[in-house]
Parts: sequence; structure tokens; C-alpha cells
Amino acid sequence: MKSREPLLSVIVPTRNERENIAPMLAALRVALDGVASEIIIVDDSDDDTPAIVARTAELEADSLHILLMHRAAGAERAGGLATAVSLGMRSARARYVAVMDADLQHPPERLRALFDEAVATDADVVMATRYRGGGKSIGLDGISRHFISLSMKYLAKLVFPDQLMRVSDPLGGFFLVRRSLIEGVALRPIGYKISLELLIRCHWAHLVEVPYEFQPRAGGRSKSDIKQGMMVLRHMGRLVREVPAAARFWKFCFVGTTGIILNLVLYHLLVNGLHAQLWGAWLAATEASILSNFVFNSLLTWSDVAAQSKRDWVARLATYHAAVSPNILLNLIVFTVLAHRFGDMLIVDQAIGVLAATVLSYWLARRMVFVPRHHWQTPFPVPADTADTAKPVGDYTNPPTDPEDGEVTLPTEVLGTQA
Ligand code: GDD
Ligand code: MN
Repeated sequence: MKSREPLLSVIVPTRNERENIAPMLAALRVALDGVASEIIIVDDSDDDTPAIVARTAELEADSLHILLMHRAAGAERAGGLATAVSLGMRSARARYVAVMDADLQHPPERLRALFDEAVATDADVVMATRYRGGGKSIGLDGISRHFISLSMKYLAKLVFPDQLMRVSDPLGGFFLVRRSLIEGVALRPIGYKISLELLIRCHWAHLVEVPYEFQPRAGGRSKSDIKQGMMVLRHMGRLVREVPAAARFWKFCFVGTTGIILNLVLYHLLVNGLHAQLWGAWLAATEASILSNFVFNSLLTWSDVAAQSKRDWVARLATYHAAVSPNILLNLIVFTVLAHRFGDMLIVDQAIGVLAATVLSYWLARRMVFVPRHHWQTPFPVPADTADTAKPVGDYTNPPTDPEDGEVTLPTEVLGTQA
């Protein structure tokens, strides 16, 4: 069995888990019976956890294939849990890679459910969830950790709606991914939320959720604290900056806001400073903000969807005008009404109008204008499996992280690097 190529690599980060690691490994042996697997322990302990692992590896050599990577205190441990998991992932050889805690808060027997689900549904990602289909978060100690955990979760969903809208437990530490998904992706997580890193940086298409009960810690101490909470914020910031597709809608809103400011300032200068004609000023201000929005959306919001040629730029600029025309129309109507003082626009009406127009123009820009001209965007097929209705509580296809809405059928040769 040991000589077989493993199907599943299980990464277990450990820091001072002497009380938990032996029972954890024993439970894994039972759970993974019959699955060709390797257990990769990435250890940063100061206690005798590594010795216990080494002993277990020897004793269980027939049934468990355990790899121990111990990092010496000091520079090697920089980044803590985040770098430990990345290191484990780089060493993994199997088709699927799972990550779970060593302290029995993630029940080892549920790992089998994750794996079976991945195989049955051909999912790219299987997330264990505490928040759906019977999942529970009883193990989070204290009302404040519950509160922080939930706030972070909803904040993440708000910041990254495209990727996380329908993921119920995006910050959990218990999940499984197809290894080809992370190949060639530079992972730079900060802190504990490796799942966030994967969900935002990797181009996954099909995600399944499996419920679990987050158990109280069996022994030892949790290493989570306020510092970890702050790290989540820093982590989110880094993802927004480094991943073009992350928080695209918010980047669009940001650009739009600069456009509105430019528009108003210019209009004011033209009318009050230069005593320009009203309609001329309106037109100039509108066109100026359209142009600047177009440039900044190209450079910021859709920096990953580069135009390929001069012709492409021109064509896009033209389509962009069409795509924002509902906005201009709305603007024009409001402007006309106000200009003739036919009545007062209620600020609420106007706010709703602007919001609706923003959502609409975002959608149009993404569908009509910033359409990719190259092929890397959706390397995953939308699987046609429908047979799996039993266990998964959430099963859906990622609303694309790319602007093509995943409707394009991709050439099959990009599908897998797997055998
Ligand atoms: N190698 C290594 N280095 N392992 C670490 C380190 C480190 O610096 N810090 C923690 N670990 C290991 C622990 O030994 C444990 O196996 C696992 O990482 C999680 O650490 P805990 O301290 O038990 O974290 P937690 O229970 O508060 O939080 C966990 O559950 C949350 C909810 O699912 C983590 O998995 C979080 O990522 C998760 O959000
Ligand atoms: Mn824990």
C-alpha cells in the first residue's frame, strides 16, 4: 500500500500538541482505512510533539504513511501556521490535499467525508462547514470568539462577494482541494486563514460543502488571539491588492467615486469659473469622467484583462461608452429635472438610483467591455455531475472570478495536470 501513489495528502500543522497528536493520528488511521494517503505533519513545537509523531510513524508504518517536517525555532518558523501549511502543500504529492488541525477540533472521521465527496463530485474544493446542514461551532470558546469569527466571516463575504457569496464557512481551517488547483499559484497567506488564500487566489469552479461539528479543544491551548483577528484584516488587504479579480466590484465603486468627484469639480470650474454654457459644461464633465473611469478601470479594476492591441483599446472605449449609457441617461434626466427646477430630487431616490446604476454599469462593463482576450481565466470545466444529491449541503459552481462569466467552454487540454 505504501508504494502506491497517494490519492490524498493530509497536512496537519502542529505547535505543542503533545496531548492530541497521538489520538489524532490513531483516528486518522481508522478514518482513512483503504485510502492511499500520506500525512504531512509540519511541526513548530517546543514540546515533544515531534518525538511522539516519529514514534507513531514507526509503530504505524504499515497502515499510515507519515512525513514529519520539523522547523527549528527561529527564522524557519517565520510566518507560523501560514507558512507551515504552505510548506506542507508544496511537499504534497497526492491528487487531493486536505488541511486540518491536530487538536481534534476537526473530527478526523469527517475528513473521510470530505475525501469521498471530492471523489464522488469531482469537486475542486470541499469545505468543511460549521454553518450549514447540521454543522456546529460549539468548539469556539466564549461569546467573543463567536462574535469575532462571525464578523470576520461576513466581512470576508462582503469584501469578496464574487468568490465567497455562497461559501458558508470561508475562514475555516478544515478543507480539501484538488492539488492541481494550487500548482503554479504563489500562496502568501498571513495568519490562520489559509482557506481564504486558496479561495481568492486559485481559479476554482466547483465547490462542495460538508457539515461538521467544530469540537472543543481536546487538550493544550488555542493559539488564536486578537493578533490573529488583526492578521485576517491584513490578509484581506493583501489579497485585494495582489489579486486583480478580488473585490472587483469595490474597485469599480472606488473608480466610480473618483469619476464623480472629477465630474463635479470640472462642472463647477466650467460653469462658475469660466462661465461656460450649461449643456456644454455638462457634456465636457461627463465625457471627462467617462474617460478617466475607463482608464482607471482598465488599470485597476480589470488589470488582469489587458487589452491586446490599439484596436482593442479603441473598441473597448467605444463599448464602454455604450455600457455606461444607462448611467449617463439617468444622470441626464436628473440633471434636466434639477436644471429646470421642476422639483427636488429626494436624496434617497437619488442614492438608490446611483446604486442601481452602479450595479448595472458594473455588470455591463464586465460583460461587454472588459472581456478577456486570453485563455488562462477558467482552467476548470464546469462538471456535469448531478448524481450527487446526498451528502453535500452546498454544491455550486463558482460565479466566475473572471469576467467571462464562466460561460465559455474551455479547451480540454488545460483541464488537468493530473494523471
Ligand atoms: N506548524 C504550526 N506552526 N502549527 C501551528 C502554529 C504554528 O505557528 N500555530 C498553530 N498551529 C497548529 C495547531 O497546533 C493546530 O493544529 C492548528 O494549527 C490550529 O491552531 P489552534 O491554535 O488550535 O487554532 P484555533 O483552534 O484557535 O483555530 C482553528 O480553527 C478555526 C476555525 O476552524 C484554525 O484552524 C483556524 O484557521 C480556524 O479558522
Ligand atoms: Mn484548534
